[in-house]
Amino acid sequence: MGSPRGQFSSRIGFILAASGSAVGLGNIWGFPTNAAENGGGAFVLIYFVLAFCLAYPALMAELIIGRYAKSNISNALQKISDNKATKTVGKVAGLYGITIATLILSFYGIIAGWMIAFFLEPLFTISGLSAVSNWLTHSGELRNLLFCALFILLTVGVIRAGVEQGIEKWSCRLMPSMLILMVALIIYVLFQDGALTGLKIYLVPDFQQISNPKLITSALGQAFFSLSLGVGTMLIYGSYLSPDENLPAMGAIVTIVDTSIAFLAGLLVLPALFVAQQQGLTIYNEAGSLIAGPDLIFQTLPALFQGMGLIGIPVSLVFFCLMTIAALTSSISMLEVPVSYTIENHGINRHSATWLIGGLTFAISTIIILNFDHMFDFIVALTTEYSQPLLGLMLCIFASWVWNRNKLLDEIRKGYPKVEASIFWKIWPGYVRYCCPALILLMFFQTILNS
Ligand code: PFF
Repeated sequence: MGSPRGQFSSRIGFILAASGSAVGLGNIWGFPTNAAENGGGAFVLIYFVLAFCLAYPALMAELIIGRYAKSNISNALQKISDNKATKTVGKVAGLYGITIATLILSFYGIIAGWMIAFFLEPLFTISGLSAVSNWLTHSGELRNLLFCALFILLTVGVIRAGVEQGIEKWSCRLMPSMLILMVALIIYVLFQDGALTGLKIYLVPDFQQISNPKLITSALGQAFFSLSLGVGTMLIYGSYLSPDENLPAMGAIVTIVDTSIAFLAGLLVLPALFVAQQQGLTIYNEAGSLIAGPDLIFQTLPALFQGMGLIGIPVSLVFFCLMTIAALTSSISMLEVPVSYTIENHGINRHSATWLIGGLTFAISTIIILNFDHMFDFIVALTTEYSQPLLGLMLCIFASWVWNRNKLLDEIRKGYPKVEASIFWKIWPGYVRYCCPALILLMFFQTILNS
């Protein structure tokens, strides 16, 4: 039986849920386009180094704090503090993290809604309802509102059912399905004309770019977003993890799954772009760089699928289904952050808390949709470029400066009795204490300088 506040019932349940949070639109869309814009293989290389050397240590900080405190980010940061000042900072930082998780969900829900609309489009095309399929693929407020609402409802449906019956059960169903769809698509795309050119651009590093500060900040931002760091998602998932589990190993598996799926996504998206070029589509923009961003997913790829004839219909269905699943396994982790806080700090039951926060998130999404040109990019930058790194920095500081080192060691020891003799323990504490904060700050100032 699970504990009253919920617990993952199995190791694989946790791994799939945490990897599900990590693997999302950031991997399948963000990673390949970032790679295309920033020197292909050079970006991939730097990304892997940063994911393991910087994002993994920060991920560990979240998992360890979460499992020790067995509560949401705001309570957890207070629990590991032993004086009034740090407790107050912990509370405020935690509440800020919860707000940022909700804001990320509100813009993520809009994009995920587009994925559902594009998924349905071919079904209406084959049914001869071309007016509907046209409406589905053309941006409009009503379409955006409806599909965002639908996606948030799906997320609410999973979170309402709790940790074991909702998060764990659905992650165990959705993650393997996503992987199968992805591998099937990669195999298909790699056999099309033009795919090998894309593969080359993706895998052959342009070493001249390796010291480009933009490449490094993009790779680090991508690694933080991809591992869902800073806002308390990994912390809350850690809080549902059994004390018997070996935390450094769990964190390493999640990082490996996340980076591997990002890598696989590159094998799909970049070759697909060059297959599109082979079919006569334009894949470079006026500035001479590869098409990225929304144009890639919502114009170039749909045009490619259309140009494939009949086979394009299942290919498009599979691609947008894959995107929707990836988005859903991430959005459930975002919604769990404010929901767990509402349950734990305001005594509201899970069912009501989920509807309440789901409704609030949709209200924010509605404001963004109705003021799209002014708000969308701003909210994305505020949450992912500025807030996530700063919150990640805060978590590293709390784990290494504020928390008592012996208590931290005891927590890891529960599932890993020999931790003191491991390389993890020889490197990690100093690393989160000095290197992570310094590197995150460096990246943060780079981001400010670039903006
Ligand atoms: N990791 C997700 C992705 O790569 O799409 C995004 C994400 C999930 C960001 C959860 C933040 C978060 F709290």
